[in-house]
Amino acid sequence: MIKPDAVANGHIGAILDQIIKAGFKINAMKYIALTEQTAGKFYEVHKERPFYGELVRFMSSGPIVAAILEKDNAVEDFRKLIGATDPSKAEPGTIRQLFAESIGANAVHGSDSDENAQIEGSFFFSALEKF
Ligand code: RTP
Ligand code: MG
Repeated sequence: MIKPDAVANGHIGAILDQIIKAGFKINAMKYIALTEQTAGKFYEVHKERPFYGELVRFMSSGPIVAAILEKDNAVEDFRKLIGATDPSKAEPGTIRQLFAESIGANAVHGSDSDENAQIEGSFFFSALEKF
């Protein structure tokens, strides 16, 4: 996902450009707004974390771009491309270092395993919307 901060700050194009240039193929994509309810469901794994309420409010604060990306070693390579969760700790040139505002408003989300990538892809897209 491109998160609400990066969408509001006009970074959709620049972020997609980096993703494509890094060799990812876009299998599905949509511009959509989460509600508190749908954001809460997406981030259910973090329900017990202290930042869950803040995260759900932030992720439903404006539109996002959701996408399914394909590449060999995609999960690890995408996390390398986006950088650390806290942008002040992200490597120079990573998407979060370049475009994120804070640890909460950190520009992008990446799946943390192939299994969760399948689950998260199905959360946003039907079979007809994946190529
Ligand atoms: P993501 O899932 O969004 O790709 O990020 P991540 O793996 O790097 O971080 P994760 O631990 O999964 O946390 C999910 C998102 O919650 C917000 N967060 N806020 N205020 C805080 O201390 C805090 N910690 C995490 C971030 O938006 C993070 O991306
Ligand atoms: Mg995560």
